[in-house]
Amino acid sequence: MADAASPARTRVAIFISGRGSNMAALLYAAALPDAAYDVVLVATNDPQAEGLALAEAEGIPTFALSHKGMSRADHDAAMDEAARKAGAEFIVLAGYMRILTEGFTRQWQGRMLNIHPSLLPKYPGLDTHQRAIDAGDSHGGVSVHLVTPELDAGQVLAQMKVAIRAGETAESLAERVRFAEHQLYPRVLNDYLRMQR
Ligand code: GRF
Repeated sequence: MADAASPARTRVAIFISGRGSNMAALLYAAALPDAAYDVVLVATNDPQAEGLALAEAEGIPTFALSHKGMSRADHDAAMDEAARKAGAEFIVLAGYMRILTEGFTRQWQGRMLNIHPSLLPKYPGLDTHQRAIDAGDSHGGVSVHLVTPELDAGQVLAQMKVAIRAGETAESLAERVRFAEHQLYPRVLNDYLRMQR
C-alpha cells in the first residue's frame, strides 16, 4: 500500500468477465511498494465471474452488472458510471469479453489498456492460440495495447513471445501464455502510468 512518502498512485478500475488471473496479478503487483497504481474497483458484466470472489476477499470494491437484456450503450454507461464513482482515472481490461461502444472507448481513449493473447497485429479476436498453431508459427504470445474503437487494433505498448512446442495444444499454449501475461501486464501498466505523469 502507498505510504505518505510515496508519490501519489493512479487509481485504476479493472474490468473482468471470468477467471480473473490477470486481475490477481495486477492486484498483487499493486501491493508492491513501488507500484504506480491502486486498484479502486473490480467490475464485471458477469455476476458469476470467478475473479469477483478474489477481489472481494482482498477487500477491493466490486461492481457486477449482467449485460443480459441491456443495450450495449446502457451497459457501457453503467460500467462507466461505476468506474467514475470509484474515482478511477484509468481502466484496465483483463479478460473483459465485451465489445465496447465507440462512445465508451472515446471517453477513455489513452486511459484504457487491454491484454490480448497473441502477437498483434496477428490474430485479433478469439481463438488466438489455435490460429497460431494452425499457421505453423514458432511463437505465440501476448500484447498489451491501448484500446480504440477498432477491436484489438490500438497502439501496442509491449509484447512477450511464448514458444510453441511440438505437439502443443491451444490449452497448453494458453496456460503458458498466461504466465507471460502475469509478468507483462503489471510491468507495462506501471511504466505507462509513470510516463503519463
Ligand atoms: C487472457 O488470456 C487475456 O489475454 C484475454 O482473456 C484472458 C483472461 O484470462 N484477454 P484471466 O481471466 O485473466 O485469467
